[in-house]
Amino acid sequence: MNVIQKLTETVNFIKTKTKSKPRIGIILGSGLGHFVQHMQVECTLPFNEIPNFIPPTVEGHSGNLIFGKIGNAELVVLQGRLHYYEGHTMETVVFPARTMALLGIEILVVTNSAGGYGDGMNAGDFMLIEDHINMMGTNPLMGPNIKELGPRFPDMTEAYDRKLIEIAERILRAQKTFSHKGIYVGVTGPTYETPSEIKMFKALGGKAVGMSTVPEVIAANHLGIRVAAISCITNLAAGISKEKLTHVEVTETAKKVEQKFCNFLTEFVVKI
Ligand code: HPA
Repeated sequence: MNVIQKLTETVNFIKTKTKSKPRIGIILGSGLGHFVQHMQVECTLPFNEIPNFIPPTVEGHSGNLIFGKIGNAELVVLQGRLHYYEGHTMETVVFPARTMALLGIEILVVTNSAGGYGDGMNAGDFMLIEDHINMMGTNPLMGPNIKELGPRFPDMTEAYDRKLIEIAERILRAQKTFSHKGIYVGVTGPTYETPSEIKMFKALGGKAVGMSTVPEVIAANHLGIRVAAISCITNLAAGISKEKLTHVEVTETAKKVEQKFCNFLTEFVVKI
C-alpha cells in the first residue's frame, strides 16, 4: 500500500470509532502525557488497535490517539509520538500527524522536551518555537511528492504561525510562567549532543535542541496546517552545565513542570 492508501484505511477506521471532528491536533512530548486528564475524553484509541499505527518504544511514552474536548475546543491528541532514532522511516514518524490532518485539523500544536542553551535558560523553563533548523540530515518529504498532501516545494517562511505565538506569549505572561522564544534545532539522537555541537548550534542562532518535532512540523506545513510548538526545557544542554545528561533528569523535569504546562495548554486550546 502507498501512503495515501494507508492514510485512507487509517482515517476510515478512526471514523468508525468516533464522530468527533477535531479542529486542533496536539502532539504530546515525553512526560507531558497527563494533559489528557484535563480533557473531557470522548474516545481513546490505543496505537496497536489503529491500522498502520506503530506503538512507540521509548520509556515515558504511551501510545494513544485521544479524542475529546476542553471547553468548546474539539481536540485530537497524540499521546506518545514516534521518533526517527527508534529506527522508523520518516514516513512512519509523520504518519500520525498526517492522519490528524486528514481527520480535518486546522491547527497542530506540537510539544516536546528539549535541552536548552539560550542565555538565561534554566531547566523547567518553556520555549515557544519561532523557527527550526533541521539537523536531521533528511526530510520527511523526500521521495516522489504526494500531491494529495501538498506541493513539491513547500514554503517554510512561517513554519510556526506568528499569530499563534502571540496568543501563546500572552497566556504565558498572564500565567507568570517563565518562558523564552527561539529557534529549535532538530537532531536525530539518540545520543545527547557533544558540548562542541551545542556551541555550534548556539553560534547558528539556536536556543534549544531536541530529537523530535521537525518532521511533524514539516509534514504539517506541507499540508497547509498552521503550527504552534512549545518546548519544555528539561535540562541545560551538554556543556552548558557541568552535569552529565540522563533520560531520568529529562522525565523528572517534565513531571515537575507538567502542571504549569497543562495550565498553559488548556488555556491555549480555547483561545486559538
Ligand atoms: N538534547 C536533545 N534532546 C533532548 C535533550 C537534549 O539535551 N533534552 C531533552 N531532549
